[in-house]
Amino acid sequence: MEKYLVTSALTYANGKLHIGHIAGSYLNADIFVRYQRLLGNDVLYIGGSDDYGTPISLKAEEENVSPQDIVDKFNKSMRSDLEGLNIQLDNFSGTSHPNHIKDSQDFFSNLYDAGYITKKKLKQFYDEKQKRFLSDRYVEGNCPFCKAEGARGDQCDSCGKLIDAMDLIEPRSKLSGEVPIVKDTTHWYLDLPKFETQLRDWLNTKTYWKDNVKNFVLSWLNEGLQERGITRDLNWGVPIPLENTEGKVLYVWFDAPIGYLSSTKEWAEKKGEPEKWKDYWLDKKTKMIHFLGKDNIPFHTIIWPSMLSKQKEDFVLPHDVPANEYLNLEGQKMSTSRDWTVWVEDYLKYFEGEYLRYVLAVNAPETKDSDFSWEDFKMRINSELNNVLGNLANRTCVFTTKYFDGIIKQPKQISELSQQKLDEVYNLALEIGKSYSKYHVRKATKQFMNIARIGNKYFDEMQPWKEVKTDSKKASETLYVCLEILRILTIVAAPVIPKSMKVLHEMINVNSPIIWDNLSKKSAEYSITNIERLFRKIDEKEVEEQQEILKRKQDLSLEEEIIKDHKPEIEYDDFMKLEIRIVKILEAERVKKSNKLIKLKVNIGGEERSVIAGIGKNYEPEELIGKKVPMLINLKPRMVMGVESQAMILAAEDNGKLSILHPDKDVKEGSEVS
Ligand code: MF3
Ligand code: ZN
Repeated sequence: MEKYLVTSALTYANGKLHIGHIAGSYLNADIFVRYQRLLGNDVLYIGGSDDYGTPISLKAEEENVSPQDIVDKFNKSMRSDLEGLNIQLDNFSGTSHPNHIKDSQDFFSNLYDAGYITKKKLKQFYDEKQKRFLSDRYVEGNCPFCKAEGARGDQCDSCGKLIDAMDLIEPRSKLSGEVPIVKDTTHWYLDLPKFETQLRDWLNTKTYWKDNVKNFVLSWLNEGLQERGITRDLNWGVPIPLENTEGKVLYVWFDAPIGYLSSTKEWAEKKGEPEKWKDYWLDKKTKMIHFLGKDNIPFHTIIWPSMLSKQKEDFVLPHDVPANEYLNLEGQKMSTSRDWTVWVEDYLKYFEGEYLRYVLAVNAPETKDSDFSWEDFKMRINSELNNVLGNLANRTCVFTTKYFDGIIKQPKQISELSQQKLDEVYNLALEIGKSYSKYHVRKATKQFMNIARIGNKYFDEMQPWKEVKTDSKKASETLYVCLEILRILTIVAAPVIPKSMKVLHEMINVNSPIIWDNLSKKSAEYSITNIERLFRKIDEKEVEEQQEILKRKQDLSLEEEIIKDHKPEIEYDDFMKLEIRIVKILEAERVKKSNKLIKLKVNIGGEERSVIAGIGKNYEPEELIGKKVPMLINLKPRMVMGVESQAMILAAEDNGKLSILHPDKDVKEGSEVS
């Protein structure tokens, strides 16, 4: 028997769970855990909320409550969302749980005593308006490595490198938007360079890691490790276990992974066996597997193993870190600040948790980013879950009930073709096991759907509705094979869609439990009792409703953007300087080598002008001819792509989409706009 300690990245307790969290670190872990349990392995699945850090303390201030209130609220909501998706952790804790403080302080002290922590006086950004030191993620600027804009002071999302906030080009405070000042402070650093050799040796043993993870870590090591600050000027967090450190706490990324340990200890206590955590954390046979999104890679593959290796107790190190890429939403990057996501809580108001499990599994962002869209959601539920798997279950059970009173016994002999089908399905089932064990959830899901396809094809070919009239033994054999296929499905699909497979298992009344070992154990008899529909269809209206919700979110966030963009006030005279007139478009043609520019000839009331307009992506030249539009005509002539432009057409922009304006009534060309 193997032993696994499986974790899902602790989720920041400043918000609710959304589908990105589920696809990144929960569903894949839950599927793996369920698979290992089917195999009979010993698995402990641990997680919780990540309760400390600046965002939570800021949110508390904003809402005039304590940080603990915020944390408790979201921790509770996470638990109920996970339950709704049938994601079953053995313990879902949070890092503000009292146990966690001691564990984190011990980690710090042990590293400190062993000489791996150094103290430094340094200069740090300080927001004078907000009167607080700016932790790294609250400073923004251009990345010192790749020069991308909008890099945070801790990490650049464009090139993925960790940044020292002081190196940011053109830093600004994210709290006030002001240029921060630099102030003296004292902090403690983890001496990562000292771990380099040990880390390299350790990584060399990780030949089985996913390529994206290994490459990430290697490129990190090759660039040379830097000392990392592990304390912050903040009140919300684990106090530093040293004298005279008031107002300072351990950095949230230092204490967070220790949450895996303290959550395990909490589990053991609740179980009434307080020492039981040792079975996992101190047994070298334990395989500790961290499920997480790719932005968490460096912390779990470099910093966390380093921290673990210098403790008094001989902790296991991560066995594997199968990081996922990102999930996009309707083709756009998810963003919680813009509310561009689907919150699990909202999802569960409309649909079954099982359906999201299936859709996120078949579309898991394992090797590259993937996309969630409501159209695809509907398609997967209707044409895969319903029309393939649901259909096989339904027609097999309905037939069995109708023609055989619900009872099918194992035939004494079975035709070559039927045996072939069963072999094929069994072999595919073994392949599915391999996929699960390698975290290839996408593949496993497609493979079990293929098993159902094989079943349907066999059913169609055998035509039991005809067989039953001519050779009832034959018909019974056909149904037996289909029921066997369903039985195998209740095992191999269980990690992804456990609820429906349980229903199916009850429906076909197999006595043997759902465990992997039973794959090859043919059932002597099937007896169908209650036929239930396994899945329901999603109709187009439901999809439209969800799309409408998303659209409203997008409109709202665009409005917010426009509001932020207000320009400074101007005098009436400033406005009167603009000469805007209605002009008639006489000619229009594309500017060569440009898909954006259109050259227009316009009549501005007794005079013709040529104008270059950047509307070529939204308009064809032909549709412009004859239109009357407002134009700013006293703009100093400018050269646009080598052509002189003598005016500017007025158009509204909606997220890159341009729409030219029209007077409400027909007016003569040359009419002035004011
Ligand atoms: N809260 C972090 C995030 O959402 C993940 C923490 S993982 C753990 O990115 F190691 F701290 F547990
Ligand atoms: Zn960068």
